[in-house]
Amino acid sequence: MTENIVTVTKEEVEEFVKTTQFRGYQNITLPYGIIVPGDNLEKESDYLLPETLTGQSVLDIGCDYGFFCHEAKKKGAATVVGLEMNQETAKVSKEIAEIIGDGVEIVHGNVTDLANNNLEIRDNFDTILLLNVVHHLTDPIDIISKVAQLCNKMMIIEFPIPSDNKFLMRKRGYKKEEFYKNPLNKVKFKLEKGFIKLLQKRFPIIGIGGVEYHNTFYFSEKSFDNLFRLHHKSFTKIEFKKSSRKLDRVIAYCEK
Ligand SMILES: C[S@@+](CC[C@H](N)C(=O)[O-])C[C@H]1O[C@@H](n2cnc3c(N)ncnc32)[C@H](O)[C@@H]1O
Repeated sequence: MTENIVTVTKEEVEEFVKTTQFRGYQNITLPYGIIVPGDNLEKESDYLLPETLTGQSVLDIGCDYGFFCHEAKKKGAATVVGLEMNQETAKVSKEIAEIIGDGVEIVHGNVTDLANNNLEIRDNFDTILLLNVVHHLTDPIDIISKVAQLCNKMMIIEFPIPSDNKFLMRKRGYKKEEFYKNPLNKVKFKLEKGFIKLLQKRFPIIGIGGVEYHNTFYFSEKSFDNLFRLHHKSFTKIEFKKSSRKLDRVIAYCEK
């Protein structure tokens, strides 16, 4: 593993953390033990990433502040690129990468452009991460099948399934505050969720949300496997395991 090249002083790192508005999604440890505040994902990283990525090239799509990029580097990846669509998030993640000094490269851009060859990322990658981004995409089928062509070994995709609470609540236009005023709603919701859970276990179903950007697609494991392995032939084998971070999400290990 290569050594990080830290060129900033403790005072500079402290100043960065003090003067930056963080969105709190990913907690990242900077040099001198200074922490970017957010959810601690260390356990998730051990659970989700392969034991080693020695010598591999890794792309993390929708990388947020780049937590998984830096974890991939720690696991021996030779090159790591993080792609992030949100301009402000990309800017902060670039600053974090510079401070850490491990050679992670952050690119500001949209995965749709990457899929359609409109981004300056040309090379293929051994491992591609697409974690908790699928439900933000308007055409994940097109995007995943195209991005799979840029992958040599394995895509790791974490996505919500149709029993996801937000999907079920928003499907009916429920607002949280109004919803809980009526105790019957809770019972109805539990029944509905139970039914969907049964359905998604046995059938290849896809949920399509009714809220722009946040709630687009929710695949059951069987629909995901049918789509990307059987029909698109993007992968030869897909294995699933439960997400350790969120309920009603799964992690798909998609082998080329
Ligand atoms: C829910 S967060 C997940 C962050 C990270 N992958 C994780 O699991 O911790 C989704 C991230 O994907 C980014 N994103 C959403 N749509 C994107 C797109 N079309 N292209 C690239 N990034 C996108 C968002 O800006 C956000 O940072």
